[in-house]
Amino acid sequence: MRCIAETAPTPNPLPPGRRASERDVFLRNFHPRDIPRIAEIVSDALREHYEPSLYLSLSQQWPQGFLVVQDRDAVPQGFLLGVNQTPGEARILMFAVDARWRDRSIGRTLMEEFLKRSRARGLVRVTLEVRVGNQTALRFYTRFGFSVTDLLRGYYSDGESGYQMTLPL
Ligand SMILES: CC(C)(COP(=O)(O)OP(=O)(O)OC[C@H]1O[C@@H](n2cnc3c(N)ncnc32)[C@H](O)[C@@H]1OP(=O)(O)O)[C@@H](O)C(=O)NCCC(=O)NCCS
Repeated sequence: MRCIAETAPTPNPLPPGRRASERDVFLRNFHPRDIPRIAEIVSDALREHYEPSLYLSLSQQWPQGFLVVQDRDAVPQGFLLGVNQTPGEARILMFAVDARWRDRSIGRTLMEEFLKRSRARGLVRVTLEVRVGNQTALRFYTRFGFSVTDLLRGYYSDGESGYQMTLPL
């Protein structure tokens, strides 16, 4: 028997600077088999480690809010996990793209689709939290129209503060 890590194809990133086209990547809903690869992206990009069961339980609350972008080898290279636990409000809990696949509009593709689905669900705003020092993500969210609505002092486990950001839909 072979384990998942042995059978997973090697990620095949695009040359630097080349934007991912529809032929290179494919957006779809999360599937439980994605968990090991998503956990790897979370570990690298967000420096967090969660139980696999957490991804499963969060995916069940609003399955269309958990989006994955896979490459041509069907390997997830980015994802956005949003929930709708408060009436009228979507909350983005996790959002990351593998470092080798950034700056190719994968994040934008994920966010645009998530906002579309949030509107279609009749939600009126999207919220998220971001580290105050995460300039890349702050710039990304600001470009989408998010604005800072709260300062969360010492919000992260290492003591860094966070911003809550909100986008009215
Ligand atoms: C935030 C994050 C998800 C964005 O993902 P991404 O796939 O790199 O996003 P995009 O490619 O759509 O956009 C990123 C930048 O690349 C630029 N870009 C996109 N396509 C481009 C292209 N073809 N040529 C040049 N630049 C391009 C965008 O304009 C954007 O510019 P910016 O640096 O001024 O923000 C990613 O940086 C990430 O995973 N970061 C680590 C985890 C993290 O911080 N998550 C958020 C926690 S709150």
